[in-house]
Order: sequence, then C-alpha cells, then structure tokens
Amino acid sequence: MNPQINPLTLDSATEALRKIWPDARPKCGLILGSGWGEAVEGFQGEELPYSKITGMGKPGVMGHAGKLLRTTIGEMEIFIFQGRQHWYEGEGWTPVILPVYLLHAFGADTILLTNAAGGIRDDLAPGSLMAIADHINMLGSNPLIGSHNPKLGTRFPDQSEVYSRALRKKLLDAGADAEGVYIATSGPTFETPAEINQYRSMGADAVGMSTVPEAIVANALGIRVAALSCVCNWAAGIGNTKLTHEDVNEVAAATMPRMKSTIITFLEELARHDHS
Ligand code: HPA
Repeated sequence: MNPQINPLTLDSATEALRKIWPDARPKCGLILGSGWGEAVEGFQGEELPYSKITGMGKPGVMGHAGKLLRTTIGEMEIFIFQGRQHWYEGEGWTPVILPVYLLHAFGADTILLTNAAGGIRDDLAPGSLMAIADHINMLGSNPLIGSHNPKLGTRFPDQSEVYSRALRKKLLDAGADAEGVYIATSGPTFETPAEINQYRSMGADAVGMSTVPEAIVANALGIRVAALSCVCNWAAGIGNTKLTHEDVNEVAAATMPRMKSTIITFLEELARHDHS
C-alpha cells in the first residue's frame, strides 16, 4: 500500500459529496475524535454515513460513529465529521486528511479538531481541556510527503502559527482550561515512561495519536485551525497505572458536559462574529 495522499480519491470524494449535497456551503468543520462523539448529541441535521463518500476508509477500522452531519449553528453551516481515521490504522494518509480536503473544497475556512490525550504537564490532570497552541510531530511521517499536489498548498508550507491565536483565545473563553503543546505519536501503542520523559523535555504538554496530520493539511490549505484535547489520563509513568482505551473513554464520558458546552460556546461565538 502506498501511504501517500491519492489525488484521484480526493477528487472522487469531492464529486460524490457534491452530488449528494450540491448546495452545501459550510463555513466551518468539526472533527470529533475519541470520546467526543456525544458532544453533538441533539444536533439536528442531515447525516451521511462515511461509506457514501468514496475514500473515507473502511467502516469498522474506524472505532467511531463514521458519519458526517450537516447542520447549522445560528446562520453558520457546519460539517461535523463524527469519527476520524488514524495513521496507525494503516490505510495511508488519504482517509486521514480527506475530511479537511472536503471542507476546503466546499469553501470552509475554519476547522475545530478534537481528540483525547494523555496529560504530561503538571496542571493537565485527567478531565482537563487543553487548547492546542502548537504541536510536535513524532508520527514518523508527514501527510504531505510525496509528489507535490498544488491542490494541497505550496511545497513547503509555513507552520509558524498552525493553531490560530484568535481561535485559541475563543477556546479559552469558551471553557478550555489551558493552552499547551500537543505531541503526536504514531501509536497504536501507548508510550513508555521513558518516552514521556523525553517528550516532556522536548516541550510537550499532552500526547496523543491524531490531530497533527489534519492540522498540517488544513494549515497548508490556508484554513484557520483550532484544536481541543480532552486530557483523559496521566501519560505513561506519571500516574502509576496501566493505560487502556476503555479508561480513556470513561474519563471523556465523565467530562462530556464541559466538552459539549465548550465546543458549542466556541461555535456560537464563531457564528456570531465570523459569519460572512
Ligand atoms: N497517549 C496517547 N494517546 C492517548 C493517550 C495517551 O496517554 N490518552 C488518550 N489518547
């Protein structure tokens, strides 16, 4: 399998979605990661299973709802991707970054990425919400590796402010507890305590297995990026407990009321002030 982004799949997915929703004009996109699914419970709109969009990845590998919801907040149309593919799923970069490409193709200029993460910094205890201020890419790869596709931006995208300062402030105003640096590892293993010690000394505040690829591509496309981590556990070696996906989901469920109010407040604020 060639992991590189397949431009033909990007085009055919865009075409498939345009046929289904020819009048869609989202301003904003939301990608819901692990544990975040219920944050949009009660949102009304049209839902589309990912299986209807060529290239979104095999259902079942997902481990998330695998649906796209088209909805509005105030006057603002928004696409909500309920579930993402990860690099560790081994399907290559196309399904990982396709939601971002589709948002751009449909004219969106803002994206909110969410994830579950392990806390490294002292104040980022389980249950904290961290607005991502910057990232460290330890995935061992980059979604833009491969022959240059001008539809994905320039060959060498600047990354001096991947996460919009203005949107970070909106996240803090909306309920995030702190800002911090997110480090992305490939997974699917959790980290070792020695790795976490190294990541801390590199400047990482929280660790996870997602988000960075989508942020890289969104930034390259000129989309404003906001990202919010739900810290669901102390990173390996800090809490003296073994890490499981189930425990991560449990903490996310317990934190859900704050996760939900933070993203809704953020989106409402965006709809009020940024709608054009
Ligand atoms: N490490 C990596 N990914 C994660 C973690 C973690 O500790 N918690 C939730 N996702």
